[in-house]
Amino acid sequence: MITPTLALLESAFDQIDLSVQPTDGAHALPASMYRNGPIIDIERSAVFARHWQYLGHRSQLSTDGEILMASLGGLDVALAHSAQGIRGFHAVCRHRAGPLKPCRGRGKTFLRCRYHAWAYGLDGQLLSAPEMRGAEGFDVSAIRLPEIEVVEFEGLLFGRLEPGPESLEEALVDVASRLAHTGHALPTLRFHERVSYEIDCNWKTYVDNYLEGYHVPHIHPTLNAILDYRSYTTTLSRWYSLQSSPLESKPDAYGSGGALYYFVYPNTMLNILPGRLQTNRVFPLKGNRCRVEFDFLYREAPVANDREFSDVVQQEDIRICEDVQHNLDSGSYVSGLLNPTRESGVHHFQELLRSDYREALRRAKETQRQA
Ligand code: FES
Ligand SMILES: [Fe+2]
Repeated sequence: MITPTLALLESAFDQIDLSVQPTDGAHALPASMYRNGPIIDIERSAVFARHWQYLGHRSQLSTDGEILMASLGGLDVALAHSAQGIRGFHAVCRHRAGPLKPCRGRGKTFLRCRYHAWAYGLDGQLLSAPEMRGAEGFDVSAIRLPEIEVVEFEGLLFGRLEPGPESLEEALVDVASRLAHTGHALPTLRFHERVSYEIDCNWKTYVDNYLEGYHVPHIHPTLNAILDYRSYTTTLSRWYSLQSSPLESKPDAYGSGGALYYFVYPNTMLNILPGRLQTNRVFPLKGNRCRVEFDFLYREAPVANDREFSDVVQQEDIRICEDVQHNLDSGSYVSGLLNPTRESGVHHFQELLRSDYREALRRAKETQRQA
């Protein structure tokens, strides 16, 4: 991971008040933090490298020999199920950084580089490299893919790149007991399909929007009809926030029961309805764009019209996020007051960001002192 210098951090943070913001009276992050520039690389190392992110569901790696490709804060990774369990590796070839893809041959699965066909086993070890035998300094046994941490929680596989402040257990404290209490059994779900969207906004613009139901009556007329907005609540934990709402009974759609919308810092969203989980992951892209990946998982058959309904809501969110980004870029606005009740999830997310920014500064100062 490329670590930003102190000078870069100080110039990127020159318009932000990094101190802890009280819930009542908090201002949103300033527009400068949402614009194209060094903040994107800073967040890769200060935020994305250090926290747990959803990579996939156990049902996508149920048998020995299966490989699942995923993205972890902008890095391509491969999860492999072998006799040693599920392990994760950087999917970046050690020869000249080529892309790896799953392959099958002679009854075995392995990872092969698309560039010059170096092949790696499910333990990350280099197996073979065409025409390299006898090359000075080449030793097959010394070349392996760097490993990442992978931990399973209720059938969900999470990974992270570097040691960070929280264990996965701490990150998801009390989630398992709430799922049990509300009758949601995530391990029994099966992956059905993935839909991706590329959006013209900073990744935080999209996350902020996800974290509040304040806009639902104004932006999502159809969703508003099935959510009971008055009893929409946000609960905060250290590393996640939970928005929940009882569903107004619609037996033809999702049935009655609770809807749970978890946001696990920094970029994982778990949208849980009876018999169904939809995960969203938000990835920053170059040029101040972001990609959102939706995975649909069901216990039985897909819920009728689930994908179509989700797409309607998503298109409404995309439109408002792109319009907000346009205005954040305009120079007209710096920062506004957050609604202490309806935007507590936004405040929670932005406080975690502020804390990571402070930590990045602290570490850069430490490095400079030691130099
Ligand atoms: S870059 Fe992978 S084999 Fe050359
Ligand atoms: Fe929305």
